[in-house]
Amino acid sequence: MQQVDNMEKTVDIQFVKGVKIRPLRGEDLDIFAEFLESLSPKTEDTFHPHPLDSANAKRITDALETTEGMYFIATYFRYGKEWVIGYVYFGAGAVPSLGICVRDGYQGCGLGCSLMEHAVEIAQKAGRKGLTLTVHKRNPQAIRVYEKVGFVIAEEIENGTMYRMNLQFEKT
Ligand SMILES: CC(C)(COP(=O)(O)OP(=O)(O)OC[C@H]1O[C@@H](n2cnc3c(N)ncnc32)[C@H](O)[C@@H]1OP(=O)(O)O)[C@@H](O)C(=O)NCCC(=O)NCCS
Repeated sequence: MQQVDNMEKTVDIQFVKGVKIRPLRGEDLDIFAEFLESLSPKTEDTFHPHPLDSANAKRITDALETTEGMYFIATYFRYGKEWVIGYVYFGAGAVPSLGICVRDGYQGCGLGCSLMEHAVEIAQKAGRKGLTLTVHKRNPQAIRVYEKVGFVIAEEIENGTMYRMNLQFEKT
């Protein structure tokens, strides 16, 4: 994974102080797999970039050394054990696709905004020209978070059921 300055930050969210947002590492396989597998059907309905299972957690963590994509998790220590409560990533290329998910039970506490701010900051530092994503129209909470960090609706896709949203860092 590409390295830029300040890949880690600590944020406070509602109910949890000191949540660390940091790059995903190979040794995070078990806690990352547990996070993906914990996601409820409702969350999975809006976030399904790939099957949310340990096989895909392994595929992602195994590729971290070589991928041009950038992957971050949000964690804190709960009962003495590091616990993943959020995940954001973007892929390779000048204007990569971004994906984000917050653990059930921690949604609506400000973590999504913090993860998005971090991803945007890192993508800019990493020399990306912008970011793109798709979102269900019936996901106003996600749309709100994306608009707060500067994404704008570019088009309707999938028979008008979804939006493509873009964030451009500089004029091309
Ligand atoms: C979408 C998601 C990443 C957002 O993260 P989050 O931690 O819940 O978001 P935050 O708490 O930081 O912010 C939510 C914002 O949406 C607002 N919001 C909540 N419900 C809303 C609604 N029905 N309509 C409009 N805005 C809404 C909140 O008020 C808040 O805005 P504010 O800070 O201006 O008050 C998270 O909810 C999630 O993982 N959902 C399931 C998976 C998913 O949808 N992923 C995205 C796929 S495109």
